[in-house]
Amino acid sequence: MKIEGQAAIVTGGASGLGGATVDLLAKAGAKVTIFDLNAELGEAKAKEIGGKFIKVNVTDESEVEAAIAEAEGLHGKARILVNCAGIGPPKKVIDREGNAIPLGDFTSIVNVNLFGTFNVLSKFAAALHTADLVGEERGVVINTASVAAFDGQIGQAAYAASKGGIVGMTLPVAREFARYGIRVMTIAPGLFLTPLMATLPQEAQDSLGRQVPFPPRLGDPSEFAHMVGSIVENTMLNGETIRLDGAIRMAPK
Ligand SMILES: NC(=O)c1ccc[n+]([C@@H]2O[C@H](COP(=O)([O-])OP(=O)(O)OC[C@H]3O[C@@H](n4cnc5c(N)ncnc54)[C@H](O)[C@@H]3O)[C@@H](O)[C@H]2O)c1
Repeated sequence: MKIEGQAAIVTGGASGLGGATVDLLAKAGAKVTIFDLNAELGEAKAKEIGGKFIKVNVTDESEVEAAIAEAEGLHGKARILVNCAGIGPPKKVIDREGNAIPLGDFTSIVNVNLFGTFNVLSKFAAALHTADLVGEERGVVINTASVAAFDGQIGQAAYAASKGGIVGMTLPVAREFARYGIRVMTIAPGLFLTPLMATLPQEAQDSLGRQVPFPPRLGDPSEFAHMVGSIVENTMLNGETIRLDGAIRMAPK
């Protein structure tokens, strides 16, 4: 699908990988709506690209439904959805005192990363599946997992489970949406230099970067966005998760 002229929604588009995706899609001529909790960054990014920001919690059903309708009123039917909203505070399963962590510490991460992704993609597809075709397809969903889905580290039980869930649903949802001409893809990024990473001292960033076989550095968010652009434009890509990681395989810790 050509990006130019299409309406696109990017969750988590206020910052990091989502922010870079917003930049790329807007530059390529898409009409972009950002769904994010961070109103300050989201408004600023939307202003920068001449797009729209809507404050949305991706886990909230009615908020997501209303925001998709609002975005459609402004930009027309959204054909491109990129799910980047995510959280990941690490936590071990058993704490220092030897107690199991509260279940809520696990479910809160799965709730945003996995249930939030499903919530937005299901409502996006419900709004799109009867629209006119653009060439041979109707649209595309791109989710963001992580290499933690495959080689999660100690402390990443919830995060890895949430990202593994995204990888797991990619094929069945792509198969279901095939009849509507809506593709579903997932990107599993390795280590990228987003605002969170940028708060680490340079030495720590360099050390993390050196763990990447090639290129031996942290990924730039624009390289993630580049992959999003390639997926949108290449109609044969469907039902698959692509690792974007410079061949890194994470160690246990
Ligand atoms: N940065 C990396 O190295 C890396 C690696 C692998 C995977 N990822 C994944 O990529 C995605 C983006 O990560 P990032 O590094 O750009 O992080 P980030 O913190 O810079 O951006 C995430 C955005 O999501 C928004 N968000 C969080 N919870 C939300 C909610 N409930 N509803 C709406 N918006 C919400 C935040 O406000 C923020 O703007 C995440 O899913 C993350 O797990 C990142």
